[in-house]
Amino acid sequence: DMGGHDTYMHKEISEQPDAVDRVLRGRIDDRFSTVHLGGLNLDPREARGIRRVKILGCGTSYHAGLIGAGLIESLARIPADAEPASEFRYRNPVVDPDTLYIAVSQSGETYDVLAAVQELKRKGARVLGVVNVVGSAIAREADGGVYVHAGPEVCVVSTKCFTNTVTAFALLALHLGRIRDLSVADGKRIIEGLRKLPAQIQEILEGEEDIKKLAAEYAEAKSMMFIGRVRGYPVALEASLKLKEISYIHAEAYPASELKHGPLALIEPAMPTVAIVPDDDLLEKNRAALEEIKARSGRILAVAHRVQEKADHTILVPKNEDELDPILMGIPLQLLAYHTALALGRDIDKPRNLAKSVTVE
Ligand code: F6R
Repeated sequence: DMGGHDTYMHKEISEQPDAVDRVLRGRIDDRFSTVHLGGLNLDPREARGIRRVKILGCGTSYHAGLIGAGLIESLARIPADAEPASEFRYRNPVVDPDTLYIAVSQSGETYDVLAAVQELKRKGARVLGVVNVVGSAIAREADGGVYVHAGPEVCVVSTKCFTNTVTAFALLALHLGRIRDLSVADGKRIIEGLRKLPAQIQEILEGEEDIKKLAAEYAEAKSMMFIGRVRGYPVALEASLKLKEISYIHAEAYPASELKHGPLALIEPAMPTVAIVPDDDLLEKNRAALEEIKARSGRILAVAHRVQEKADHTILVPKNEDELDPILMGIPLQLLAYHTALALGRDIDKPRNLAKSVTVE
């Protein structure tokens, strides 16, 4: 049942305010400015002993994990990174008892992620799951975890589950942070930011008509570049993946500062750039990248908190706390990919060559 939408993807994009509300519900503890995560199976003493966090997933879940690693590093000050699960499991990784491993999966059935979890458990590691489907293989195999409560996702490409997974990581990072060195004031600040998310997502969705007009223009591109920095880079990776999956337009994502180390050679009017430009401490650096692109006659679409003069178009998103901005900045780009694919007449819910759940190696 598409509930009045033409595609499941559109329905699932539209459901995000409610979905995010669900991942937050019942978990916020205002008294201690923290969150409770019932199924974590990690007591405070164990949480304090974690020296590193390694996040594993595939595709969109890997991108959610990259943002999750950034959240854990900034809020809990634990070194954290994310890696595609298959890369991890094929390289005979050093498994360290002080590392917390986190497997991310919408379906909970992705073979490469499941195999990585089983290998880690066999080597005695502690593995948590950040999973959508309750009772799925990865959820059962993990020592504990956080359900992301996005609800059923039918469209082959992931949208609402991505947003909820990143929000679940914000909860986990806040929880770990408040057990360690995150102050009450910062805990409060993040909680207030989390509570704003559903209404801010709604506000972004109300800009759909404008994004649709932009999509009609960008649908002519043969290839597109996506750039971002630090928190914005995984947003660029995910937006680029979404565009290629459903529109079949070639797209690449790069950290903004890597442009001058090679990809700048590709910039010309026929290769537009989508730039993630949040109003944070990197704003001036990002503006410099826009200037570099403009100087090569590149067209620029910025996703930003205020209009970017160097860009040909800016999609404005509401500002949240710096740490939570990536949750919001990806959402207009889901709509951009959607309307680009629609303008090109693609089969959006079932893109060619792709399956919802990849249970083979
Ligand atoms: C992209 C997409 C895929 C999945 C990937 C992992 O839109 O949906 O990249 O994210 O196949 O799937 P899960 O999260 O079920 O493990």
